[in-house]
Amino acid sequence: MIMKQPTVKPGTISPMAEVPAHIPKPEYAAGGLPSPCRLSCRKETEEQRQRMRHAGCLAREVLDRVLDEVRPGVTTDHLDRLAHRLIVSRGAYPSPLNYMGFPKSICTSVNEVVVHGIPDSRPLEEGDIVNCDVTVYVDGMHGDCSETVFVGKVDDRAQRLVRVAWECLLRGIEAAGPGRRLNLVGLAVEAHARSHGYSVVREFCGHGIGEHFHMAPYVAHFHEPDNDVVLVEGMTLTIEPMLNEGTAACVIWPDHWTAVTADCGLSAQFEHTLLVVGDGVEILTGGRTPRFLA
Ligand code: MF3
Ligand code: CO
Ligand code: CO
Repeated sequence: MIMKQPTVKPGTISPMAEVPAHIPKPEYAAGGLPSPCRLSCRKETEEQRQRMRHAGCLAREVLDRVLDEVRPGVTTDHLDRLAHRLIVSRGAYPSPLNYMGFPKSICTSVNEVVVHGIPDSRPLEEGDIVNCDVTVYVDGMHGDCSETVFVGKVDDRAQRLVRVAWECLLRGIEAAGPGRRLNLVGLAVEAHARSHGYSVVREFCGHGIGEHFHMAPYVAHFHEPDNDVVLVEGMTLTIEPMLNEGTAACVIWPDHWTAVTADCGLSAQFEHTLLVVGDGVEILTGGRTPRFLA
């Protein structure tokens, strides 16, 4: 096993941003605790599906604006403040803010950070990769997406990992559809990752989404032979595989959020929110070409 040196360490986290009183907030906004959720993620009515489309579109729009700002020298705190301003200017709530106490409005995960990186004072450096994860709550629904981008020019090793992480999301999406076993997603993602020598993170999964940020079912990105959940038309869920170049194992920083690879190898992730429809899935968070390919 190759153990690398960390490239990221905790920076300074600026004070929590305010959300204007008139903006409708999710149940955890004040106390930090999501309510125990017994709702199904299935959207029975066209009206609910329309609200999910709206949440997905806004999440994508904000994510695109954030990604436009990524360049060497820009801090992740700057990306967070930009996202926060845009989201509240649309009358929406940035879902991560105070979710189980999370202190910021988006997640920014750099290099060996797998997921849930807290935006802070660290300037992005040429050669970094960064995943920006934007979730918004609008019209009573959450929409969630993320993309990993290059900071300036990155080496071949980073380029390969990011490309395969993107391909894994596409394979997962292709495997999903009404009447199909949910774990076909995990099977497809894991097979593609492994064929390139990468590991798939097991501690963090995709999820049902809608009236609540995280709902049943959880979406494993690896094979789970005993998982007999079947997808049904109207379900809204995320697929968000995290790929590591070395070990799949993660370590959590003392901030209780930042998950890094145990061997400090690179990690990359992409996420879409999806609606299960008659002949497959509709991508609610935009189907455009990711930046690293453009
Ligand atoms: N957006 C993440 C996801 O894809 C969740 C972030 S939870 C937070 O599910 F609290 F860290 F924001
Ligand atoms: Co998600
Ligand atoms: Co997300």
